[in-house]
Amino acid sequence: MNDPIIRLTSSSQPLETIDADWLVLGYWEDAAPSPALRALDEKLGGFIGRLRSANDFQAKTNELLPLHQPLGIKAKRILLLGLGKSNEAGRRLLHDTASTAVRALTLKKIGRVAIALPASDRVTAEQMVLAVGVGAIQGSHGLGVRRSEPLRFPPDEIILAGPAAESAISRATIEGEAVAFARRLVNLPPCDLYPETYAAVIADMALETGLECEIWDERRLAAERMGAILGIAQGSARPARFAVLRHRGSGSRTLALVGKGVTFDSGGLSLKTNDQMLDMKCDMAGAAAVTAAMQAIARLKLPAHVIGIMPLVENMPSGLSVKLGDVLSSRSGKTIEILNTDAEGRVILADALTYAVEQKADHIVDLATLTGAVMIALGADIAGLMSNDDDWAATVRGAVLTAGERAWQLPMDSDFDAAVKGTVADLKNHPGIRYGGAITGAKFLEQFVQNVPWVHLDIAGPAWAEKESPWRDAGGTGAYVRSLIELAHTYTV
Ligand code: BES
Ligand code: MN
Ligand code: ZN
Repeated sequence: MNDPIIRLTSSSQPLETIDADWLVLGYWEDAAPSPALRALDEKLGGFIGRLRSANDFQAKTNELLPLHQPLGIKAKRILLLGLGKSNEAGRRLLHDTASTAVRALTLKKIGRVAIALPASDRVTAEQMVLAVGVGAIQGSHGLGVRRSEPLRFPPDEIILAGPAAESAISRATIEGEAVAFARRLVNLPPCDLYPETYAAVIADMALETGLECEIWDERRLAAERMGAILGIAQGSARPARFAVLRHRGSGSRTLALVGKGVTFDSGGLSLKTNDQMLDMKCDMAGAAAVTAAMQAIARLKLPAHVIGIMPLVENMPSGLSVKLGDVLSSRSGKTIEILNTDAEGRVILADALTYAVEQKADHIVDLATLTGAVMIALGADIAGLMSNDDDWAATVRGAVLTAGERAWQLPMDSDFDAAVKGTVADLKNHPGIRYGGAITGAKFLEQFVQNVPWVHLDIAGPAWAEKESPWRDAGGTGAYVRSLIELAHTYTV
């Protein structure tokens, strides 16, 4: 079930003395090499300098040039890595380029990879270790969760060469493993990962990390009046679960992380087409981000008090499915008219958000692969951010950017409120108009957060990569795990 453990270490030795199967050297396109890189190239007789002068290596972003059997240094092979323009240095670029390099090396079994930490005055030493360390771990893991023969071979050890504090190395290890955990959960097929089995994974992880954990089964859900979650789940042979993780930090304020956990979204009676349904095992990516972030928060022993809340269901058509025109009674007391069974995420999140408010959360973030519309608005790589509180929105977006990820705020003007008002019931789950679909989805959720500062991240685009790219495999991306860890890290201090 788990990914192989990779040892992340650091070394302050001169690059030419590092013993590794591969030594990765990052170069900026437009800046002179650091003293450490120059010293290494001197041992190589100025070979790399000549490659650069001859334009055989231009150091464009993600450019790679392998050099085998170099003479004069300890490492067996060198991989030159282009970092691109030095003024674009940041956690995203450094993460992605490190991932590109390691990804290119892990098609074969290798023992030790050393990566020279690039020089940049735009990133702190700690951020550098985080970006490169987490990126390198990402490049080591890939698809193929159920292949008989693995597609990638993670190295036994990744050595970060350069100034690296022990605390940053340990955070990078924990963060890298958390992102890999989220990717793995998303990539698992829905025959393996469904509400009961997902809840068991969560409970096991909690036991390992010391998180408090509660799993509610369908009887408990009924007793607790979770009518919205039960209504969506009732068409499936797989019963719903509700998972709550709690990290008791010393902080007095409580942060609630809520994740949509639809382990497969067929659309229900409002059935999706084959093409629309193809990747819908990814519809629990919000819950995966919360599960993985909670694991990291516990392992890092962060001072914040954080609750992870995950409604887990499978959305299926059957003789027992919720029907169009049915009305569900949510835990909040508000009734919901179902006009489209494919708008299921907002319905299960209704009960989860109500629970977060009852738990006296001071701040809420929910993550959900909620709408196709957010991808029309922002493309496949940027999350939509919607909120009832501009200060909290700025805090969350700040954490997202610091972590090297992306989100863009969409308006929540009150003229969208009409789109959620029901006729037979208090609310309706489908607005009836396509325009502003990401916003009308968020407007529905807003009905359940009372006045608690809340941010909704619609991650339908970035949670899943349809195609591979130089820095990552196709499939689950582990998006926003890094952002949630960064947010929890800064929450109480
Ligand atoms: N899980 C989907 C949204 C989705 C679409 C995620 C594409 C990832 C990629 C969600 O449950 C859904 O079906 N949304 C509907 C909402 C509509 C019926 C209001 C949609 O976007 O079409
Ligand atoms: Mn749906
Ligand atoms: Zn869905």
